[in-house]
Amino acid sequence: MIRHIALLLGASLLPISAAQAETVTSPDGRIKVTLDADGEGIPYYEVARDGVPVITKSNLGFNFTDADPMRRNFEVVSFREEAHQSSWEQPWGERQWVQDFHNELAVTFRQRDTSAREITVRMRVFDDGMGFRIEFPENASQPVYRIADELTEFNIAGDGTAWSIPAGDWNRYEYLYQKTPVSALSTVHTPVTMVMDNGLHLSFHEAALVDYSGMWLKRMDGTRLRALLSPSPRGPKVIREGAFTTPWRTIQIASNPKGLFESNIILNLNEPNKLGDVSWFTPHKYIGIWWEMHLDNTSWASGAKHGATTENAKKHIDFAAEHGFRGVLIEGWNLGWDGNWFGNGRDFDFTTAYPDFDIEAVAAYAREKGVRIIGHHETGGNIKVYEEQLADAMAFYERLGIDAVKTGYVADAGSVIAPADENGEGEILIWHDGQEMSRHHLKVVKEAAEHKIAVNPHEPIKDTGLRRTYPNWVSREGARGAEYDAWGVPKNDAGHVPEMIFTRLLAGPMDYTPGVFSLEGRGAEAADIPSTLARQLAFYVAIYSPIQMVADLPENIAKYPQALDFVKRVPADWAESMLVDGKVGEFAVIARRDRNTLNWYVGAVTDEKERQAKVPLSFLDPGKSYRATVWRDGAKADGLGADRHAMEVETMTVTSDKTLDLRLAPAGGFAIEFVPLG
Ligand code: NOJ
Ligand code: CA
Repeated sequence: MIRHIALLLGASLLPISAAQAETVTSPDGRIKVTLDADGEGIPYYEVARDGVPVITKSNLGFNFTDADPMRRNFEVVSFREEAHQSSWEQPWGERQWVQDFHNELAVTFRQRDTSAREITVRMRVFDDGMGFRIEFPENASQPVYRIADELTEFNIAGDGTAWSIPAGDWNRYEYLYQKTPVSALSTVHTPVTMVMDNGLHLSFHEAALVDYSGMWLKRMDGTRLRALLSPSPRGPKVIREGAFTTPWRTIQIASNPKGLFESNIILNLNEPNKLGDVSWFTPHKYIGIWWEMHLDNTSWASGAKHGATTENAKKHIDFAAEHGFRGVLIEGWNLGWDGNWFGNGRDFDFTTAYPDFDIEAVAAYAREKGVRIIGHHETGGNIKVYEEQLADAMAFYERLGIDAVKTGYVADAGSVIAPADENGEGEILIWHDGQEMSRHHLKVVKEAAEHKIAVNPHEPIKDTGLRRTYPNWVSREGARGAEYDAWGVPKNDAGHVPEMIFTRLLAGPMDYTPGVFSLEGRGAEAADIPSTLARQLAFYVAIYSPIQMVADLPENIAKYPQALDFVKRVPADWAESMLVDGKVGEFAVIARRDRNTLNWYVGAVTDEKERQAKVPLSFLDPGKSYRATVWRDGAKADGLGADRHAMEVETMTVTSDKTLDLRLAPAGGFAIEFVPLG
């Protein structure tokens, strides 16, 4: 049941009388946004918090490939204010109920020339940040908008430290984070997170990236950033006919890391669920025929090393059934993996299995054992081939009882193959985060929904909260995942997950694929993964995803029964989530309450530094006793040293007034389960 109370307070459409800037404040009055046109008629905005500038005068505008720019000579013609208070329920998520309290200001600007073109800038200001988008009406003088550049600026007041990954480089979003002064950023992806010299925490991103090009941020000078839309070989970066809106440009603003972590701005700026009842998707954990390929023990390609055989699949199904894991991902089962499929994908056939994989028999076996196969559609970054087969591919999985699919777009950035023309003829190379890919992903998600299938793309477009609107878009990659611990040079370093928690993961769920209990990658020189065993368990709480892999080989998982016990117990769906303590890029202690019981779980991770974490248990119900089970780094454990598997499991009775004091080894972590007693 959806509880939705929308309050419209004093909505008004006001004509402009005096030349006076329009302002809107957050519900708590602390954030104030100003929106106006300057002396040259350039629309701009400014943001302050508690009277201290956060964003100084930042211009808005557009450049077109075939029309005069929308830059100067604008005047404000009307504005409208609205206050909104509601709460809505997530079908699954990091919390069940989401509060949406914001004040809105929409200002319409008109160009003072014969074109009289208009845009409306809509600002929504929350207590923990803001979002704005630009709305284009239907326009007789410009029926098709061909955007060369969006000129939106973020002129950040003062300097600070930023955590970012580069945009426009070949490896899409799969980079280690760089910590630099804001004034030394180059061109970066979002979310990019900053701790300003005055202590303010900021994170820049976007919400509801629909039929538009993804926004990178390019530093112009000092601490002034500007939108740089992902390119298109067709010329315009965005082509839209008739009325449309840009995605929301979001700025999270908080005093501390907790404020960033617990914000719901990105979800709130997306449209409500358009799919209706999605109870057919069940959050779950899964294993797979997967890590063995990344270790190069077996192959996706056919032949003697082929991993996806009927026999191997049955072995995995047995293991999943025995331990209560709902899903088994099977990669490399279908034709097309022989030869070079990277950035090619021309041979992929999504409905024909290799001869040593009897998909009908495997699906029947899974059904019998109460396990679900997770399907795989690696496209090699060829959306032309994939879209031609999409409907058949989804219908095929549905018939086999497969209700989740991992997709993949392995191709260098700027090298996704798309049809050159509207008839599907010819080829053109596009970007993973351009307008056409934003369309492609939604096409796949909608087609999958028709078949009651959940989607988890790798090498995806970034997460902008569209899971609210299409709740079968359950997770994605879009960052360096655990696969880098198999073969990456370097591997994910100790800081990677503490950095992702305050950057990439602010955008939404990630299929990181944790649970490599062996802590070993491929080959002798690449063997040691910088992690303790307890840290692998912490990931299940620290990294949110409604589908969580237990990535290691079944025989390795079985070798660590205490770790296996935790991953069997930890849920993948939550009633509430909070940051207990943390510092951007350094460490995080995260608490979440299970959606289906009254149990709480805590996960903590640190960078290369050993720490002592204090965990006040004030999130527990007062007056109740809980059985706490702690999986923590052993006294000698060192995620960067020799003793990475040393783990202690301890059980105690606790109440909400207690504070736990737990050691985190270098590259270590801990996980805790709290079960109410009585
Ligand atoms: C890259 C994905 O991230 C990985 O999980 C997958 O196994 C390979 N591509 C092959 O599709
Ligand atoms: Ca990948």
